[in-house]
Amino acid sequence: MQQVDKGFAIRVRDLVVGFGHQTVLDHLSLDVRKGEILGLVGASGGGKSVLMRTIIGLIPPGSGEIEVMGRPIGDAGDRVTQSAAARWGILFQQGALFSSLTVRQNIQFPLRENLVLSQSLMDEIATAKLEMVGLAPEDGDKYPTELSGGMTKRVALARALALDPVIVFLDEPTSGLDPIAASDFDALIKTLQKTLGLTVFMVTHDLASLNAVCDRVAALADGKIVAIGPMPELLQSEHPWVRAYFHGKRSQMLQPQTR
Ligand SMILES: Nc1ncnc2c1ncn2[C@@H]1O[C@H](COP(=O)(O)OP(=O)(O)OP(=O)(O)O)[C@@H](O)[C@H]1O
Ligand SMILES: [Mg+2]
Repeated sequence: MQQVDKGFAIRVRDLVVGFGHQTVLDHLSLDVRKGEILGLVGASGGGKSVLMRTIIGLIPPGSGEIEVMGRPIGDAGDRVTQSAAARWGILFQQGALFSSLTVRQNIQFPLRENLVLSQSLMDEIATAKLEMVGLAPEDGDKYPTELSGGMTKRVALARALALDPVIVFLDEPTSGLDPIAASDFDALIKTLQKTLGLTVFMVTHDLASLNAVCDRVAALADGKIVAIGPMPELLQSEHPWVRAYFHGKRSQMLQPQTR
């Protein structure tokens, strides 16, 4: 089937990001297509979270260009960055919810920050988002310490969806979940992509997630994207780090054993 070119949700060109003498991203380029789930893999400390934070304007790039939904990020001043902010939702790696706020108040936080809405409308939105991520309305009254790990991830996702974003950034959304909860979460992401037409940018080390939900997978090594494509293509990559990642001992354990 021929893919209709709907354009790119995110375009990164020649991006350089560093801290002091350390160069983390070194002339990195990456395109994320509208409506796709892109998985990002890379060594721990390799710069995945830095890339995500730079795309959303939290870290200023040394050089290079970033466009989100056709609008430049970074050099265009705070107002553009801010108005674009409503178009994406974020689930951070240290995905902390505010511990002093209930689940419902956490989900409503981005609404309060960005919009002026009545309390009853905000309550309706929170209930709808809870349902969207498979939680009950009563869960809205709980505090973050009263949630399981899987519930916490779901609440963080509900908060990321609060402003009806077109793009969601997920930094290791299934880490720390048991395999069943993780695959439930994967299925949820896939459903949201299909029903809401979301573009999903997902950092993950979870090989099952990469296989099950990602349309394409990008590999970050040496500060660059060294391979990108559907999983079967990545498995064929000759790049030494990509080979070691997908064909190393730990990933072998996931392959069926030949007898
Ligand atoms: N604000 C910062 N100031 C200085 N150095 C930073 C900052 N943020 C990240 N770094 C450094 O940038 C490098 C990349 O970090 P990053 O968090 O992007 O790694 P990662 O690929 O997400 O790793 P992991 O898989 O462990 O989450 C690390 O060496 C880190 O110490
Ligand atoms: Mg990280």
